[in-house]
Amino acid sequence: TSTMTDAHERSFIMVKPDGVQRGIVGEIIKRFEQRGFKLVALKMVTPTRVLLEQHYDEHQGKKFFEPLLQYIGSGPVVAMVWEGLNVVSVGRKMLGATDPAKSEPGTIRGDFAIVTGRNIAHGSDSDKSAKREIDLWFRADELAVWTNSAERWIY
Ligand code: TYD
Ligand code: MG
Repeated sequence: TSTMTDAHERSFIMVKPDGVQRGIVGEIIKRFEQRGFKLVALKMVTPTRVLLEQHYDEHQGKKFFEPLLQYIGSGPVVAMVWEGLNVVSVGRKMLGATDPAKSEPGTIRGDFAIVTGRNIAHGSDSDKSAKREIDLWFRADELAVWTNSAERWIY
């Protein structure tokens, strides 16, 4: 409650198939939990091509689009919604740069990845993208409504 502005901001965070295969799911969840963000949805799914075409719509036509869809569609991913103040921008900082070679150590990509084509995790890049992606990946009834009792010690 100290200068809290929008603690209900949400971001779509996804552990990609390489993160699942390499056993980094727990580590990623742990970092968002520890930071103080609230988990409101989580599921493991192998995304369909149609879903990925929509999710990555802005990249249709680019040279990496097909390899990207092959990569993300190649196995189960862990799709999540995290909530908290500035979770979109802070979440992107926690992920690091798109190219892991440019990600600082201490970031998820900077600690666990080497190349852009296997960069472990996704995070929404704006509030608008977050809303679009959450709508795409989750039904309204998959978003949990719960009170985090630790919140008064975070805000
Ligand atoms: P982008 O939205 O630019 O990055 P971010 O995931 O950080 O928002 O690109 C989406 C994904 O596409 C990116 O995580 C990995 C893949 N990609 C490539 O394989 N090659 C590239 O040159 C770029 C820019 C992205
Ligand atoms: Mg992006």
